[in-house]
Amino acid sequence: MHRYSAQCLLRRGIRSRTQREPCYRKILPAATRWHYTAQESLKCAWQLHNDHLEFRYADTLMRFDYVWLRDHCRSASCYNTKTNQRSLDTASVDLNIKPKTVRVDETTLFLTWPDGHVTRYGLAWLMKNSYEGQKQQIMHPRVLWNADIYQQAHVPSVDCQSFLETNDGLKEFLQNFLLYGIAFVENVPPTKEDTEILAERISLIRETIYGRMWYFTSDFSRGDTAYTKLALDRHTDTTYFQEPCGIQVLHCLKHEGTGGRTLLVDGFYAAEQVLRQAPEDFKLLCKVPLKHEYIENVGGCHNHMIGIGPVLNIYPWNNELYLIRYNNYDRAVINTVPYDVVHSWYAAHRTLTTELRRPANELWVKLKPGKALFVDNWRVLHGRESFTGYRQLCGCYLTRDDVLNTARFLGLQA
Ligand SMILES: [Fe+2]
Repeated sequence: MHRYSAQCLLRRGIRSRTQREPCYRKILPAATRWHYTAQESLKCAWQLHNDHLEFRYADTLMRFDYVWLRDHCRSASCYNTKTNQRSLDTASVDLNIKPKTVRVDETTLFLTWPDGHVTRYGLAWLMKNSYEGQKQQIMHPRVLWNADIYQQAHVPSVDCQSFLETNDGLKEFLQNFLLYGIAFVENVPPTKEDTEILAERISLIRETIYGRMWYFTSDFSRGDTAYTKLALDRHTDTTYFQEPCGIQVLHCLKHEGTGGRTLLVDGFYAAEQVLRQAPEDFKLLCKVPLKHEYIENVGGCHNHMIGIGPVLNIYPWNNELYLIRYNNYDRAVINTVPYDVVHSWYAAHRTLTTELRRPANELWVKLKPGKALFVDNWRVLHGRESFTGYRQLCGCYLTRDDVLNTARFLGLQA
């Protein structure tokens, strides 16, 4: 692959072709040639290759496969702008297709295909939607935190009334949530019904085997350690679902006793430390799939859930971490990993666990009636210390897609 410096290309753009040619021969195959738009738009240049179009715009070099260019045509017969859906049957596109002619003006790329069909692409649209353009973007901005960073940020809680009644309140809450993976709402009436209204303000509630809204007491009504008074080490929930629940809502309705503080740890901050210190461990945790399992036979509840996936999940195109699946209680027998990888995986898991258990990374909060906590279960681990007395929590899970949908509707990058 050739690499051209932006400055170099821009400089060449204002020279005549005869001046440019000798320089090109050094870096390009003899058959290829750059085409430029008018002098006023020197930021744009293109080159037709056998199987792709090379295109430079706004200092970004992009490469487009011809089938991709035909497939993404936004003409009225290929794309329905009312429904934002493709009308073109992609399977009807010749896999060896190549544009007959190419033209570029100040704002638009025009491609004419062998059958005469014309495709127009806005240059800014191409830039935004190209692989090279996307690679430079993250899905959403985050502030990775340890206890100190989070406390220093003085992230405000949002008042319940503002959260429920104003878009500004909701937006502020979601902005905090997207940045830190946790957010609080204050002055919530301490009832299950009011907590449900809160949850429904931003998302559909994700009903699970635990029901829609759940009560948490130490009555061991379900076959899970969460329903006891014991301490719970940091973990993410529902790792045994193929798609772990996206968001957890927790609201302490009553506690007459001692202890029971909630522990929060930013899993992405810990993973970032692993990436810096031991990139091979990070890679292994991204690659090796594991099973998590929930087997319950208590009372009338009979459940057997299995979720499979690596501990760390990254988007393949930009390596951005989007999901941590970490629950040592629910990790099933490891039978998806060959013997000669198992030991390295245990070592990598230990590296991550060491980071997750570093006291400096632990944020301890006391949940009180009226203060509801939203936790990004794909990012932030939670746990609790043991407690005495009667403690009642209620909460629910939210579907991640719907929370992000609300955030996007309010203009946030999510
Ligand atoms: Fe949990």
